[in-house]
Amino acid sequence: MIIGKNIVKEFGDPPHRILHDLSFVIQDGEFVSISGRSGSGKSTLLYIISSLDFPSSGQVLFDDEDTSLMSVEHIHEFRTNHVGFIFQFHYLLPELTGLENVLLPPRNIDRVDEFRDRALELLKTMDVSKVADKLPSQMSGGEQQRVAIARALIMKPKYLFADEPTGNLDSANGEVVMNILKSINKERGTTLCLVTHEEEYAAMAQREIYLIDGRMSERG
Ligand SMILES: Nc1ncnc2c1ncn2[C@@H]1O[C@H](COP(=O)(O)OP(=O)(O)O)[C@@H](O)[C@H]1O
Ligand SMILES: [Mg+2]
Repeated sequence: MIIGKNIVKEFGDPPHRILHDLSFVIQDGEFVSISGRSGSGKSTLLYIISSLDFPSSGQVLFDDEDTSLMSVEHIHEFRTNHVGFIFQFHYLLPELTGLENVLLPPRNIDRVDEFRDRALELLKTMDVSKVADKLPSQMSGGEQQRVAIARALIMKPKYLFADEPTGNLDSANGEVVMNILKSINKERGTTLCLVTHEEEYAAMAQREIYLIDGRMSERG
């Protein structure tokens, strides 16, 4: 369970408030979308929920553990083992093949060999086995994003965070990626937190956190 308690985020000096006192609970296995217009604070909130950034005040608790109080080593271990990230731009390393990119997280902790079969399996599930030995520059945008999803799943994360994962794709590929994310949530029980400005995708979630200028709101 993820609990957000009175999350405030400010940037700059003098401080400019971007997120205003946001509180929410995300249950294990839930699919929650964060939606709102460009600049409403969606990415800022996702980075804070996912432990990539910290609130200026307030708390994020993962099963009662406050991310701001975790040691640097612990938070690295937590992100590596329990959290998967997918972004609008795939951030695959250009000099590595599809398979090598999927194996990056285990490579960082020296456990490549034990994850190789799973990586191949995930590429197959994402229907991109054929790009296992190709470089990102030799893949289509949809293939690159599916490799990035396989990489996000390689460590069997409990939580999956996605920031506009379809933002750079045409609508056909966008739909493929959304269906993959939905089925990961449903079949593996992975908690899914999805940022999108597309109403249609936001509505696929069990629950929508809708932001207007950094405040939670009903979609009006
Ligand atoms: N690191 C930062 N420093 C200063 N301002 C920031 C920073 N990150 C985001 N912002 C500002 O916070 C607001 C919300 O940004 P963001 O969370 O990226 O919105 P969204 O993802 O909904 O488009 C914007 O006005 C943006 O300029
Ligand atoms: Mg954003």
